[in-house]
Amino acid sequence: MKIFIASDHGAFNEKQELANYLKGKQEVVDLGTYSTESTNYPEWAKKLVEKVKAEQAVGILLCGSGIGVSMTANRFSDIRAAVCRDEDDAKMSRLHNNANVLCLSGRRTSLELLKKITDTFLSTPFEGGRHQTRIDMFNNLGE
Ligand code: RB5
Repeated sequence: MKIFIASDHGAFNEKQELANYLKGKQEVVDLGTYSTESTNYPEWAKKLVEKVKAEQAVGILLCGSGIGVSMTANRFSDIRAAVCRDEDDAKMSRLHNNANVLCLSGRRTSLELLKKITDTFLSTPFEGGRHQTRIDMFNNLGE
């Protein structure tokens, strides 16, 4: 499974650590940012989402809180981005919401927990059934 990962400066170090952790077991493509220089999180969310959509892949986005990147990512159709602060969030976002972008906080979540959340996210399947019916409604809610 190909995984795209990106962050703003607020989670640059955590993004580097997490990408290195995953590289041993997954195909990981790091889309940036590439330093701690201040930058704007919407540009990284957009860059990642475009790749996830084009390749029907999985994405991991990080910013200081995880909130800004999730808000940006969810503006794109067929993107289901979930901010996950613990393993249960990650599990439910996959089981019930078929999340395809995991959003993480570099400032609120320890590196060890970021790894556990990511492992749970990547290993949990979507349940389908009634949950697919609900997801199908996402792109037809009007303005
Ligand atoms: C950057 O300081 C910070 O605002 C950003 O990383 C993120 O937390 C926004 O939601």
